[in-house]
This record gives sequence, structure tokens and C-alpha cells, in this order.
Amino acid sequence: MKIVIIGGTGTIGKAVADRLKLDHEVITASKTNGDYKLDITSKASIEQMYKDIPDIDAVISTTGASHFGKLSELTPEQNEIAIESKLKGQVNLVLIGQHYINEGGSFTLTTGIMMDDPIVNGTSAAMANGGVASFVQSAAIELKRNIRINTVSPSVLEESLGKYGKFFKGFNPVPASKVANAYVKSVEGAQTGQVYRVY
Ligand SMILES: NC(=O)c1ccc[n+]([C@@H]2O[C@H](COP(=O)([O-])OP(=O)(O)OC[C@H]3O[C@@H](n4cnc5c(N)ncnc54)[C@H](OP(=O)(O)O)[C@@H]3O)[C@@H](O)[C@H]2O)c1
Repeated sequence: MKIVIIGGTGTIGKAVADRLKLDHEVITASKTNGDYKLDITSKASIEQMYKDIPDIDAVISTTGASHFGKLSELTPEQNEIAIESKLKGQVNLVLIGQHYINEGGSFTLTTGIMMDDPIVNGTSAAMANGGVASFVQSAAIELKRNIRINTVSPSVLEESLGKYGKFFKGFNPVPASKVANAYVKSVEGAQTGQVYRVY
């Protein structure tokens, strides 16, 4: 399969890319470091990617920014970061990409544990995650041409504890290799509309 991993240079994306490269043609796409450069907050940039990379079988998104901070201090502007990137960016990859990817292809988006198991400072990210998960479940029953869609919702990664560990006290961290498995299941399996919780 020809697989594009948006965010394929990040912590999760790199683990997924390393794994899928064993059996597939993988193109990493990201804002600054990928094989292909795009900005998911720009609809034009997404459309250009689909024009520049033809014949895609699977699109994986392992990206999506959000502001971490106390709800009492969260401004509408800070909340827009998650809306523009994690929510709209990922959703637009599907809305635009459904007209480009191959018949029988798939989309796999990324959410996260905090949509089910809230943490202090995580409201904005949780909001976007919940929106993405509901979008995935609903889109699955309408996508044409046997295109499938799933989302992977990981707990905090062992590899990210240095960065996020202080937000996830008492959570069970998961290794990137285990998280990568869920993306493999989504791409190589037959399921659709699933939220793969890797806790
Ligand atoms: N790490 C965790 O513990 C964890 C757990 C659960 C959920 N998640 C979620 O999983 C996603 C990925 O997390 P991560 O830790 O792997 O992130 P990361 O290491 O910071 O990597 C982010 C990736 O996204 C790319 N990117 C950033 N902004 C972009 C944009 N506007 N357009 C296109 N690409 C962009 C980066 O590209 P460049 O490097 O080229 O800029 C990089 O490849 C996030 O939504 C995060 O909330 C993470």
C-alpha cells in the first residue's frame, strides 16, 4: 500500500512509520521535517498534498496541536489552537481526502485518553479529541467507495513522559510500539468507525 503519515516525524508518527515501512511504501508529511511539507491548518495546503501525491491507499494523521492550560485561564483564542489543528485539521484531511484516496482506502486519525479520562489543563485537547472521535464514528457510515475510517486514542506514551508526565500522574503509560499496532490494525484490518483505545 501507499501510505501517507501526516505527523510522521513526531513521537507517535515515527513509530508508526518505522513499523509500516516494513511492508508498505510510506511517505511522511509534516510541517517542517517530513518527506512532504504541509500545514494541516490550511485547506489549500491539504488539497495541494492530495494533488501532489496521487494514488494514496491510506492516510494516517498523528498530529494535532492544542493549548494545555487551566480552564479558568483558557481564552477563546487559545482554544482555537485545538479547533484549528487537532479538530479541523484532521477532519479536513478526510473531507478533502475522501475525493482523492483510492477505493477501499482508509483514514486513521489520532485522539487521546483525556477525552474519556479527564486531566487538569486538558479541556481544550479533550474537546477536540471528542469531536474527532464522534466525526469518525459518524463518517464511517457515509464514506463512499468502501473507504474506512478509525481513530487511535492512546494513553500517554512512555516516550513522552518527559514532556507530558506531569499532566498524567497515575496513568499507565504505553510504549510507542504498542500504539503503533493500533494504526497497523486500522490500515491493514477491515474495521471502520472504531475508536482504538490503547491504555
Ligand atoms: N505523545 C503522547 O503521549 C500522546 C498521547 C495521546 C495522544 N497524543 C496525540 O497524538 C498526536 C501526536 O502526538 P506526538 O507526541 O507524536 O506529537 P509530536 O512528537 O509533537 O509530533 C507532532 C507531529 O506533527 C507535525 N505537525 C505539527 N504541526 C503540524 C501542522 N500544522 N501541519 C502538519 N504537521 C504538523 C510535526 O511536524 P514537524 O516536526 O515537521 O513540525 C510532527 O511530525 C497529538 O495530537 C497528541 O495530542 C499524544
